Amino acid sequence: MQFTKAIVRIPCERMTEGLSSSGFGKPDYSKAIMQHEKYVQALEDCGLEVIVLPPDNDFPDSTFVEDTALLTPALAVITLPGAPSRKGEIRDMQSIIGRFYNHIEFIRAPGTLEAGDVMMVGSHFFIGLSERTNTDGAGQLISILEQYGMTASVVEIADMLHLKSGVSYLENENLLATKYFHELAEFRKMNIIPVPEHEGYAANSLWINGSVLVPEGYPETLENISNAGYETIILDVSEFRKLDGGVSCLSLRF
Ligand code: GLY
Repeated sequence: MQFTKAIVRIPCERMTEGLSSSGFGKPDYSKAIMQHEKYVQALEDCGLEVIVLPPDNDFPDSTFVEDTALLTPALAVITLPGAPSRKGEIRDMQSIIGRFYNHIEFIRAPGTLEAGDVMMVGSHFFIGLSERTNTDGAGQLISILEQYGMTASVVEIADMLHLKSGVSYLENENLLATKYFHELAEFRKMNIIPVPEHEGYAANSLWINGSVLVPEGYPETLENISNAGYETIILDVSEFRKLDGGVSCLSLRF
């Protein structure tokens, strides 16, 4: 798997009103803009052409563009976010993604699904059942993916925002995971790269074309990823962490 492009959205000024359970306070907007620029640079350093969307001040969380669509090699699926304040974030995704995809499907109410809950492992997709992604939304996604020759299954998650808040696939059968996921039957055959409990946020790291983007400030996880043979790119994403967002949430790769 090689990615060639990514879509990002510049944070909007109203990001300070974004959803948060972190307890780290409100993001500093100027700092977030600088961190986002460095994030885009990192994607470009990984060889991606980056499509940069303008800020959307109608939706405070709109910089977390990953949740609005699932992009697979065969098709794109526009999601339906579970958080009421985020549902409208999908409004212009069809026209943006339609520039790159011939096949676009949709998650429809009463289903909800945020793609931070979807982890691609080759042609199989793990879907976390969370407060944002319900069984109806997951069932719709499974049917859609099966129509296009792929498979998917659900994973029960607890005490985290999205599936990929606690686990990230780094390709080559390597799974970066917090303890909760080490013990799940579906992941037993994979090589586990552990994330210590006190560094749980770093479980959301992002593989791109052989390199791994890792949030700054998690030295044990960084060492574990490096020891597994990956080049790492460290990014300060403190202002996005304040809104429970991580490095994967800030882009759609395809
Ligand atoms: N603040 C990102 C989210 O809760 O979805």
